[in-house]
Amino acid sequence: TFVVTEQCIRCKFTDCVDVCPVDCFHEGPNFLVIDPEVCIDCALCVPECPVDAIFEESELPEEFVDFIEINAELATRWPEISSTKDPLADADEWADKPDKRQFLVL
Ligand code: SF4
Ligand code: F3S
Repeated sequence: TFVVTEQCIRCKFTDCVDVCPVDCFHEGPNFLVIDPEVCIDCALCVPECPVDAIFEESELPEEFVDFIEINAELATRWPEISSTKDPLADADEWADKPDKRQFLVL
């Protein structure tokens, strides 16, 4: 299973969405998550993300391991998103910022 991590927060570029063959992305106010029940591990989304937010579960950096649970939980609550749209207005400004998980809006 693939997992969206912190770097997506406050950016939401959504390039990842168009390439997903099974529409397993779900959208919140300032973050996207992957439904682990639906992801088929194709890896197509990984190179699409301009901020490298998506990792295969087993390759997650230690500090992002809790995003496995965050993706699984929020995927059950947030609606599906199936096509790319404009990023958040100040996405470029936030793209390189560290420690963005404090800004996650549920
Ligand atoms: Fe979709 Fe493939 Fe990415 Fe899973 S790995 S979220 S199936 S594009
Ligand atoms: Fe987020 Fe990257 Fe997709 S910023 S919305 S994971 S393209």
